Amino acid sequence: MSIVIVGAGQAGLQIAESLRRGGYEGRVLLLGDESFAPYQRPPLSKKYLADDMADERLQFRPVEQLTKQNIEFRPLTTVTAIDRAAGEVVLASGERVAYEGLALTTGTRVRPLPVPGAEHPAVCYLRGLDDAKRLRSQLASAARVLVIGGGFIGLEVAATARHAGKTVTVVETLDRLMARAVAPVVSEYFAELHRGHGVELRFKVALTAIAGNPDGSLTATLSDGSTVDADLLVAGIGVLPNQELAAAAGLECANGIVVDEFARTSDPRIVAAGDCTWHINRRFAAPLRLESVQNAVDQGKIAAQSLLGNAVPYQDLPWFWSDQYDVKLQMVGLSQAHDSLVVRGAPESAAFSVFYFKAGELLGVDSINRPAEHMLARKLMSLGISPSPDAVADTGFDLKTLLPAP
Ligand code: APR
Repeated sequence: MSIVIVGAGQAGLQIAESLRRGGYEGRVLLLGDESFAPYQRPPLSKKYLADDMADERLQFRPVEQLTKQNIEFRPLTTVTAIDRAAGEVVLASGERVAYEGLALTTGTRVRPLPVPGAEHPAVCYLRGLDDAKRLRSQLASAARVLVIGGGFIGLEVAATARHAGKTVTVVETLDRLMARAVAPVVSEYFAELHRGHGVELRFKVALTAIAGNPDGSLTATLSDGSTVDADLLVAGIGVLPNQELAAAAGLECANGIVVDEFARTSDPRIVAAGDCTWHINRRFAAPLRLESVQNAVDQGKIAAQSLLGNAVPYQDLPWFWSDQYDVKLQMVGLSQAHDSLVVRGAPESAAFSVFYFKAGELLGVDSINRPAEHMLARKLMSLGISPSPDAVADTGFDLKTLLPAP
């Protein structure tokens, strides 16, 4: 009996450990193509990039703890094919590993810059620890940093680079920051925050070409014809799900590997979890793909349960966070479909929350430097309690009173 997990990130590790916690006694193989033991990604654009965190602290566990749990972790191991008929995965070395159950936790990869000159050595991306090491070392010697993409990665890198005293320009094709995730009022707050720290923000322009200069720097040309000179260019223009392995094996894929609410793919012996899945969550009408720690952990647990033969539906609430300078942005729910919003507190005070509603029902809350309100919103939403927009607007009203008595 053995279960093979392809991808040793947060979701893969979660499945391995949940299998053991759930009493699975067969072999558990955790295969990862990176050279590192499973590590946390969120610090890579923050403390780790700022050189304020040792490699050991990034790791979830020392490898011995995996061994103790009888999890066979194999780094530098790339799976090149899934032979569903034989019930085997094929490794790059040619070795075949048999499985009774298979979990795909292959994550995402960065979307490459679609412009000429993008292979210039001063162009960096940030997804894995190898990327972070390379970026960190190039950042140390750069004076001028050009960030392409005003999303989470771009802005966290911009904040870290400003903190290190670099000149920073951010180019965003849309007209506001983090548009995929937050309302204009939040984008505006963060735009002011970055400008206040001396970052130059360029909206509604795209990068069109990169040219190298004899001194090793680069010149970026933008769609309005202007140019920006930089010693380092960091691209954070989104990610793509790693679904090719699944697709080649004939598993259904959309914008990610398609799984049901039990994290099962179209093959009953194969589950998938984390950033790579196009999934159903019982809380939401439509399928979705989430890029978050929350999803890797919670969906990983569901996937492990399915491998153990227990069909537990996924219904956890999505939540996310981003740290920029000393500001903590925490998000809960999915707010894109809102038709109204209420700002609780004042953006000028640098501590406020935005409550998003649809037809009077709470869809999500973004909190800026209000961790207690974020936790309260998570509690309310997981209990299905929706405060009225009027109650939210009244800062004298204590939202805690809406919780059931302990
Ligand atoms: N030029 C400039 N900006 C662009 C371009 C482009 N060619 N293409 C896309 N963008 C912008 C998008 O409009 C968006 O604002 O880049 C931003 C990408 O932001 P995200 O979608 O948040 O992606 P990214 O910042 O790369 O983060 C990827 O990693 O850590 C996680 O939470 C993070 O899930 C996110 C993922």
